[in-house]
Amino acid sequence: MIPFNHLGWAFSRFGAAVYPETAVAQLCICLHALPPDADILDLGAGTGTLANYALGCRNDLRPVAADPAEGMLRYVPETVGRVIARAEALPFDADRFDGILVGEALHHFTVPEEALDEIARVLRPGGLLFVYDFDPSTLLGNLLRRAEKLLGEPGHFYPPETLASLLRERGFSTTVNRYGWRYSLAALLEA
Ligand SMILES: C[S@@+](CC[C@H](N)C(=O)[O-])C[C@H]1O[C@@H](n2cnc3c(N)ncnc32)[C@H](O)[C@@H]1O
Repeated sequence: MIPFNHLGWAFSRFGAAVYPETAVAQLCICLHALPPDADILDLGAGTGTLANYALGCRNDLRPVAADPAEGMLRYVPETVGRVIARAEALPFDADRFDGILVGEALHHFTVPEEALDEIARVLRPGGLLFVYDFDPSTLLGNLLRRAEKLLGEPGHFYPPETLASLLRERGFSTTVNRYGWRYSLAALLEA
C-alpha cells in the first residue's frame, strides 16, 4: 500500500504538478457554472490540491476536503474545511454539495462503485462532479496501473468510457476531455 498518511509533505509540494494546465482550465470552466458561494467537496483530497485549484478559479467557493489519511489533511490550507472520511461512507447529508471534485483518487478507493453511489447521494440534483484520472487503456496509464498493483494498491483505473457508463447508470450526463494518458470527466447529476 502507498503510505499516504506519511506523504503529506510530498503532495503539498509536488501534488499540483500532476495536473496539466488544460485540465485546470477545464475545471475552471465547469466551476463557473456553479451558483455563488457554492459548497464543494474535494474527495480523496490528500493535501487539497484540487480544492486549491478550485479557489484559484473562484474565490467565493466553500470547499471541504475529505480523506482517510490525517497525515495528508494536515497540509490542507486553513481556508478549506477538513473531514476524515472514506469515499464509500461519507458523513454528509443528502444533497449537501453543489460540486464534488475527485483528483487522481478514484482508482485508490477500495470500492469505487460504492463511492459513486455516495457521490450521487451527497451531490444535489443539478450538481457537478469533476473527476481527473489516468486512462489504463493507454500505455502510460497501464504502466501506472501495473506499478500501483505491485505496490498493493486497489488500482481500480477506469477508462473514461467505463466511468461515464457507471455514472450514467447513476443519473449523470457526462463529458470527457483527454490529455494524452490522462483525462477529466465532468458530470451533471440530472435534476
Ligand atoms: C494520489 S492521492 C491524490 C490526492 C489529491 N486528490 C491530489 O490530487 O493531490 C490519493 C488520495 O486518495 C486517498 N484515498 C485512498 N483511499 C480512499 C478512500 N477509500 N476514500 C477516500 N480517499 C481515499 C488517499 O489517502 C490519498 O490522499
